[in-house]
Amino acid sequence: MQRLARQWQRADMRIGFVPTMGYLHAGHMSLVRRARQAAGKHGKVVLSIYVNPTQFAPHEDLAKYPRDWNRDCHQCRAAGVDVVFAPDDAQMYPGKAAGNYSTYVVEEQLARVMEGAARPTHFRGVTTVVAKLFNLVLPDVAVFGAKDWQQAAVIQRMVADLNFPVKLIVAPTAREADGLAMSSRNKYLNADERAQAVILFHALQAARAAVRRKPIAAARLKKDLQEFLTAAPLARLDYVEFFAPETLQPVTTVKRGTHMALAVFCGKTRLIDNGRL
Ligand code: PAJ
Repeated sequence: MQRLARQWQRADMRIGFVPTMGYLHAGHMSLVRRARQAAGKHGKVVLSIYVNPTQFAPHEDLAKYPRDWNRDCHQCRAAGVDVVFAPDDAQMYPGKAAGNYSTYVVEEQLARVMEGAARPTHFRGVTTVVAKLFNLVLPDVAVFGAKDWQQAAVIQRMVADLNFPVKLIVAPTAREADGLAMSSRNKYLNADERAQAVILFHALQAARAAVRRKPIAAARLKKDLQEFLTAAPLARLDYVEFFAPETLQPVTTVKRGTHMALAVFCGKTRLIDNGRL
């Protein structure tokens, strides 16, 4: 991958990169279009597929994370992806099984709250694998989804702090017709859970409607949303937070422009969503 990327660089081709864990959906493919735009007609677009074990905790869904190599490749070909980079564990973490892997990239501020508080080892795995992928793919531009807002913020900070010569683009969240944010994990939902999962989007909409009238205390709005979520009996709130979009600093008063993020269990499946209010 690195050798190929170097050849492209020598030929003055821009490299656009979309890192994924596969099981591609229309949200991923919208990032590919953005990467193509950024790389230009004569540039190259790389999409990586790697279900990264270091970002899953032992009790999480690594083993059953959905995979469909043929379908992913078809979608990539149709979308004009130049290279699908799909390393395996032995290539990404050689020596790890034998205890000979010991270097990690850790972001120590933005990665501590929300997803980082709920999943303490998660972002260490994400920043480590994204740093490795950047070193392999050598992209000029990398595209991430607003769906994982905190992830994009953490990676943006890593890029700034560690001087990666990569420009980040954050592309909007792609949604199903009813508003549910597209996610590979939606596949885990049964019909009832799927019907109720739209409550995350409705909670965002409800918060938007509430702050349109006047600013509200964060604690008050949290209580109201907890109450709102009881309309979906299969849904259980993990967290809802209100924060400044760039710094992820929590706010005490929520107003238009404040960002909201929430994590909700639908049955056993944990879903996240976020947006600007
Ligand atoms: P994955 O969940 O496969 O997501 C890959 C990229 O697609 C991420 O940037 C994510 O934010 C984006 N994405 C997912 N759903 C989206 C949607 N509905 N609309 C727009 N973009 C969406 O995120 C990861 O993989 C991994 O953590 C990774 C960055 C690849 C590191 O392993």
